[in-house]
Amino acid sequence: MTALLDIKSLTIDIARDNGPARVVDGIDLTVAEGESLGVVGESGCGKSLTMLSLMGLLPNKIKATGGSAHFAGRDLLRLSPKELRKVRGAEIGFIFQDPMTSLNPVMRIGDQIVEALVYQKAMAKPAAMQRAGELLELVGIPSPRDRLMAYPHELSGGMRQRVMIAIGLAGNPRLLIADEPTTALDVTIQAQIVDLVRELKDRLKMSVVWITHDLALIAGLADRIAVLYAGTVVEDAPVDVIFDRPSHPYTRGLLASLPTLAGKAMDRLPSIGGTPPEPGRRPPGCPFAPRCSLAMPACNDALPKLAPVPGSDPRHRVACFVTTEKGAA
Ligand SMILES: Nc1ncnc2c1ncn2[C@@H]1O[C@H](COP(=O)(O)OP(=O)(O)OP(=O)(O)O)[C@@H](O)[C@H]1O
Ligand SMILES: [Mg+2]
Repeated sequence: MTALLDIKSLTIDIARDNGPARVVDGIDLTVAEGESLGVVGESGCGKSLTMLSLMGLLPNKIKATGGSAHFAGRDLLRLSPKELRKVRGAEIGFIFQDPMTSLNPVMRIGDQIVEALVYQKAMAKPAAMQRAGELLELVGIPSPRDRLMAYPHELSGGMRQRVMIAIGLAGNPRLLIADEPTTALDVTIQAQIVDLVRELKDRLKMSVVWITHDLALIAGLADRIAVLYAGTVVEDAPVDVIFDRPSHPYTRGLLASLPTLAGKAMDRLPSIGGTPPEPGRRPPGCPFAPRCSLAMPACNDALPKLAPVPGSDPRHRVACFVTTEKGAA
């Protein structure tokens, strides 16, 4: 499979008075045509900034300073603002976390979708309104044509999130990036939204990147999972491999905090104490080493690179000296 999105050695820095602070430190990620990638990691590990950098939407004072991000052959990091505007929405759809802040509260739902269609597809308004109704139907909103006239506050949280998905899909993108789109919703609605996106991905033959800190939620949608820690990818593998044979101590810690089917947390794996390093205060070695019960002296000296896990699936890669050296020994 050829990669639709291929991010290599991406670095992102925040400008501070005392010099730049690195937040994303050499991320490698790929998404194949039709594939869904789950990106997981603790709050602050750089998930959102990585995705925003692709769209040219990084906040003020934050810049992608190195690496590349090829999408369908073009490096997004090197496109002009005008070229990026054409990619946003039309080729890459984006769903943000909180629909109450992303939707305009004083604009009817239909008008907001029409605006996206007119902008991205240069559609005439009547045709766009027709298409807006079809999009609401596609994302499972009952009485979609009536709902076009509603304001965001007249819909439930789950329905608003479906509207956000409809807007993300409006341009018929090849890749849909969803940044923690369900954290504001209750658990059953979260599962419905995940099911909906899985079904739409197959139906519309899209690729999906789904960002979350919830490994259990993503299990039902992702083909592959990339685990981020402090601005680096520490493990990347097919979803069943991540769950059956997690390799990085951080991934194992994340899994240990999930309840088992019996309702108990697994008891053998250690929970993760401590906190990730602050941007600009990264240790020279593995950023997880200060929290890792398995860390060896070498872990504090150099940053481990992603490498195949000995004896595992060929797509299973981990950035951990403990795993790769133990396997090689
Ligand atoms: N506008 C900003 N100004 C300064 N620092 C920022 C800004 N946005 C993000 N950061 C810092 O950059 C780091 C990465 O942020 P990012 O938003 O990518 O994290 P995240 O993985 O998406 O976390 P979360 O799960 O909480 O959404 C964090 O340490 C954060 O404090
Ligand atoms: Mg985020």
